[in-house]
Amino acid sequence: MKIRTAKGLTFDDVLLIPQRSSVASRQDVNTSSWLTPKLAMNIPIISANMDTVTETAMALAMARIGGIGIIHRFMTVEQQVRQVKQVKRSEGFIVENPYTIDQNRSIARAQKMMQEHDIGGLVVTDAEGKLMGLVTQRDLLLVPDEQAAVRTVMTPHDQIISGTPDTSPDEARAILHEHRLEKLPILDAAGNLVGLITAQDVIKRQQNPQATKDGKGRLRVGAAIGVKAEDLKRTEALLAAGADVLVLDIAHGHADQCVAMVKTLRRDFPQAQIIAGNVATRDGARELAEAGADAIKVGIGPGSICTTRIVTGFGVPQLTAIMDSAAGLQAAGIDIPIIADGGIKTSGDLVKALAAGASTVMIGSLFAGTEEAPGSPVIRDGQKFKVVRGMASLGAAMGRKEAEKRDLDQQEPGKNNVEINDEESAESQVDWAKVVPEGVEAVVPYRGNVQEIVYQLVGGLRSGLSYGGARSIRELQEKAEFIEISAAGVRESNSHDVRRE
Ligand code: XMP
Repeated sequence: MKIRTAKGLTFDDVLLIPQRSSVASRQDVNTSSWLTPKLAMNIPIISANMDTVTETAMALAMARIGGIGIIHRFMTVEQQVRQVKQVKRSEGFIVENPYTIDQNRSIARAQKMMQEHDIGGLVVTDAEGKLMGLVTQRDLLLVPDEQAAVRTVMTPHDQIISGTPDTSPDEARAILHEHRLEKLPILDAAGNLVGLITAQDVIKRQQNPQATKDGKGRLRVGAAIGVKAEDLKRTEALLAAGADVLVLDIAHGHADQCVAMVKTLRRDFPQAQIIAGNVATRDGARELAEAGADAIKVGIGPGSICTTRIVTGFGVPQLTAIMDSAAGLQAAGIDIPIIADGGIKTSGDLVKALAAGASTVMIGSLFAGTEEAPGSPVIRDGQKFKVVRGMASLGAAMGRKEAEKRDLDQQEPGKNNVEINDEESAESQVDWAKVVPEGVEAVVPYRGNVQEIVYQLVGGLRSGLSYGGARSIRELQEKAEFIEISAAGVRESNSHDVRRE
């Protein structure tokens, strides 16, 4: 047995000491950071892979603001893949595989497809897949016979104005405007359809110049996976769907199975960007990095809905966990980003996490009350709330079992089948009374759009950088000097001796 007597510290235990600053305006600072060595973001904020925080809507909003969302894994592979695709297809310089419909299918079918995929138009093809025309929402408006073939309402091939693979975004914009078009099909020299540029994409690009995008102008999105053998199938499907980064997420990441999974992923998917965690120690961070992770997620028990520390007695106060993990990587000479996961309540916490060595932060509950988080608001005592639940809470565990069951039900015998060993079969008859949760379910006030919360967080970060005499997050880390404060200091830091309305 050992005891470490140096105190473990968290955000409220410390303040950052102001540094001499030459930053004249909050606009002079750069809030960009690295999610992994290959993935840059304009703001260092990630929405958590929790089922009450990140699905398609949150992932879209986060990427548009300049952060990223990680779609949780407590759904079937098909559902998770669909969500990733929705984000990847939502915008881009060019839609590479536009949705198509055969010219002889009905108008009703076209309407259903547009609704399902949340798109405004379809490319019409013949049986061989050759371009025959275009059909948009406008063509379908108030049609007298929904059973008529799509070809009867489409804009036929010879009337379509098209671009070539060399058409630049600016040229596309000019053509779309000149002809008052919504869609510009891109055809190669042989007249084959190779993509589609939409007016919506041009508009979105102008609206969100900070957005986190890949080389093709598509929004970036991450997806969570687990450590079981069947997660390799999930991984393959998510990468094929275009997921930019995978988060290998287990409660105790410094464990044989997590290290082994990182090695397997590195071997089988050498190009994939892999974030691994969670850890809270020097050795934990180092081992996952040495196994091949591209970034390390740090946090054992700091989350607002976590009870791990109470239930198990284990954890490290988050500021110390970040510093220790950063020190572990540095000592091993490994320069990869750290993600501070959990416990962020204010922009001040965000600044402290970054100053302590994190490159980005992951946020759960603070975002769970937003419009973009899954689920509808509930009204209690006349006020709007949304539900948040720990992923190790009883409710989440029950939901997870349901999802696993649906996943298995959907698989045909012998095809892509997940192997179930006897132990797992027995486990599927779960006695819920015997489950030991490490998280709780709660409600948080409804908070409107996530963009507004992120705006406040980034505003605080900008000011924080200027107090730190830093123009970038890296400079903030280099210059950071923390001071431990007393309970009186904490009291003084909050508003006091006034009545808050
Ligand atoms: P915040 O404080 O932002 O934290 O809500 C989000 C992070 O909390 C972790 N998480 C859990 N930890 N039991 C835990 O011990 C749980 O049930 C649980 N659910 C989420 C997770 O790392 C998340 O990103």
